[in-house]
Amino acid sequence: MDEIVIEGGVALTGEIAISGSKNAVLPLMVAGLLSDEKLILRGTPRLADTQTLARVLRELGAEVEEFGQGPGEGLSVHTSDLSCTRAPYELVSKMRASFWVLGPLLARAQEAQVSLPGGCAIGTRPVDLYLKGLEAMGAQIEVENGYVNATAKGGLKGARIDLPFVSVGATHVLMMAATLAKGTTLITNAATEPEVVDVGKCLMAMGAKIEGLGTRNLSITGVDKLSGADHTVSRDRIEAGAFALAIAATHGDAHLTGIQEDVLGALAPAMRLAGCQLTQEGDAMRIVGPKGRAIATPVTTEPYPGFATDLQAPFMGLMCGADGVSRIRETIFENRFMHVQELVRLGADITLEGDTAIVTGVEQLQGAPVMATDLRASATLVIAGLMAKGQTRISRVYHLDRGYERIEEKLSGAGANIWRETV
Ligand code: UD1
Repeated sequence: MDEIVIEGGVALTGEIAISGSKNAVLPLMVAGLLSDEKLILRGTPRLADTQTLARVLRELGAEVEEFGQGPGEGLSVHTSDLSCTRAPYELVSKMRASFWVLGPLLARAQEAQVSLPGGCAIGTRPVDLYLKGLEAMGAQIEVENGYVNATAKGGLKGARIDLPFVSVGATHVLMMAATLAKGTTLITNAATEPEVVDVGKCLMAMGAKIEGLGTRNLSITGVDKLSGADHTVSRDRIEAGAFALAIAATHGDAHLTGIQEDVLGALAPAMRLAGCQLTQEGDAMRIVGPKGRAIATPVTTEPYPGFATDLQAPFMGLMCGADGVSRIRETIFENRFMHVQELVRLGADITLEGDTAIVTGVEQLQGAPVMATDLRASATLVIAGLMAKGQTRISRVYHLDRGYERIEEKLSGAGANIWRETV
């Protein structure tokens, strides 16, 4: 098993190129099931999660091929025939996004058997909203032996779906399903995350009729058939945010290439309050860390455009060294503080009060062996390791590999003393 080793204390400089978005490429690949023509996705990141999803899609009859090398590389999904409509537990339990195939399978093949994804390290993560939405569109759904068995004899029908709260996953699945339903579907309280907009744009390039992308009200009028498309995946705002925080936390001065400030959303003002400078320079963002210690800054996670739950753990890394006490509140997931005890091992002073972490900044973190607990939590351990004095060794780095492309190469390119060891 691989471990990441960091000798902390080096300020990041130079340039870090931002990859294609993990949270966009996964639903985009799933959208490739909706058409019998080829969907070409450019600028895709090379991640363990894209490989896992490729296996699921192949199981269903899709041809998934990677092409090119280096920047601009991509992959294609070609599902000329849906030869299987069952997504088994062995694959879905590896990665939740596999569950999303339910929408396209039901829309195109009018039947699907998809394993329930189960819980996850950060919370219970139910899928009731997906199922209620599909039922509103006329699907018959039974949950039996851990599987969702769904049929839509005669096809899905347009419906009004009022989501009680914002769900990125439910919005992806219901939007995809609605593209091939008869009539118009109105989704209220839809997610407006940039990844939802990215998927919607790709579906429109495939011939879908969608109005209201990026707003809380989505209107989708079904068409008989979708075509292939050639789509470039948006850049990863979560990866960009994590690197911006790593630069700030090491008092560095470096550029993130390929992004605009708006993708950072609520992170940008929070970083400025914390004493960082962020400047757009062409297609790159220059991040300059605070001169002395960062200023303690409170954040609360919220659906987009609020502070992203995926950046909560990385932001906590910066706050561990801040001057003062910051309150970090998590409102999306009930158990997304697994990183706290690992940060404490590095010398952080953090206590939990319900959904809030109270972080009292310390002058200096100390290197230690730590364990990655989930994808975004592992990014904060890297940030904390870069800040710490001495050596930090992170185990279970498969969590990192799920969502960050060559993180140690990108960071060592910016001057960090970081490497991978196979132990
Ligand atoms: C969420 C984040 C997304 C992030 C991803 C991975 C939000 C709104 N979404 O997306 O930005 O990239 O985690 O960390 O911040 N829920 C239900 N029933 C459902 C579906 C969801 O109760 O059927 C609840 C979830 O438990 C959660 C909230 O709704 O509390 C948001 O869930 P959702 O957006 O669907 O989660 P993800 O798609 O995983």
